[in-house]
Amino acid sequence: MIEKAQGACRVLQVSDTHLCATPSAPTAEAPVDQRWQAAQARLMDWAGSADAIVHTGDVSDDGSAAACQRVAEGLRALNLPGQILPGNHDEPAALLKTFAPGDPLSLARVLDLGAWQVIGLDSRKPGAVSGHLCEAELSALDAALADAGDAWILLAVHHPPVSVNCAWLDAIGLNNGQALLDRLEANPRIAGVISGHVHHAFETMYAGRPVLTAPAMSVQFLAGSDEFAIASGPPAFRWLDLCPDGTIQTGIEEID
Ligand SMILES: [Fe+2]
Repeated sequence: MIEKAQGACRVLQVSDTHLCATPSAPTAEAPVDQRWQAAQARLMDWAGSADAIVHTGDVSDDGSAAACQRVAEGLRALNLPGQILPGNHDEPAALLKTFAPGDPLSLARVLDLGAWQVIGLDSRKPGAVSGHLCEAELSALDAALADAGDAWILLAVHHPPVSVNCAWLDAIGLNNGQALLDRLEANPRIAGVISGHVHHAFETMYAGRPVLTAPAMSVQFLAGSDEFAIASGPPAFRWLDLCPDGTIQTGIEEID
C-alpha cells in the first residue's frame, strides 16, 4: 500500500461491481461475486488509511435489490462513509432501499470531507446505455458548487465526460459531457472528475485538471479498442489522495 500523502483525504473509488440477484457460480464466464469477495481483503487493507469510499455506479448488473445488498455488505465492512452513484444498469429504487438517506453510505449529492467535497451526479438516461445530465441535475450541481465555499471539489459521475479513445465506449458516454467540462473550466475549485462505466483506467487532463476513470470490480474492457473487447485484467480499484493544495495523487490497485 502507498503511504497517504501528507494532510490528504484518501478516497477509494470502487466501480462497476455488476452483481446479479443470483450470486455467480465460480465457473461462470464472469464470476463477479467471487471477484467482489476477492477484493474484500485488499479493500480492508486500504480502509485503515482511507477517509471515504465512492462507488461510481453499476452496483448491480440487473438492477436488483439483492445485488445491491451484497455489494453493500462488502462496502459496510470497510466502516467508511461514502457515496454511491447510479449507473445505467442500476435501478434507483433498489439503490435507495439499500443505501438509505442519512446512512453513512448513501446517494447523497455531497460527500463532505472537510477541505474537500465529492459532488455526485446522476447521469442515467432512462432506457439508454449512454448517459445524460438533465437540466435538474445540472442545476443541482450549480447549487452544490455555490454552497461549497472554499472546499476543493471532486466531481463523480458514472459516465465519463471525455473521450476515452475507444469508439464503442465514446458512443455510449456522457452525451452532454461538455456541460460538465464547461463548469470545470469556469470553476478553479473543481480539482478533478472521476467516472466508471468504461471498465478500465483512463487518465487525461481538461483545463489543467485530471479526468479519471476506474477499472471495474467485475470484468475489464480493453483500453484503446474501437470495438467491444474484454481484457484479461484482474478486478481493481482506484485510490485518490486529495491533497490540501487541491492536487490529486492517484493510482490503481489490482487484486490478483
Ligand atoms: Fe459497467
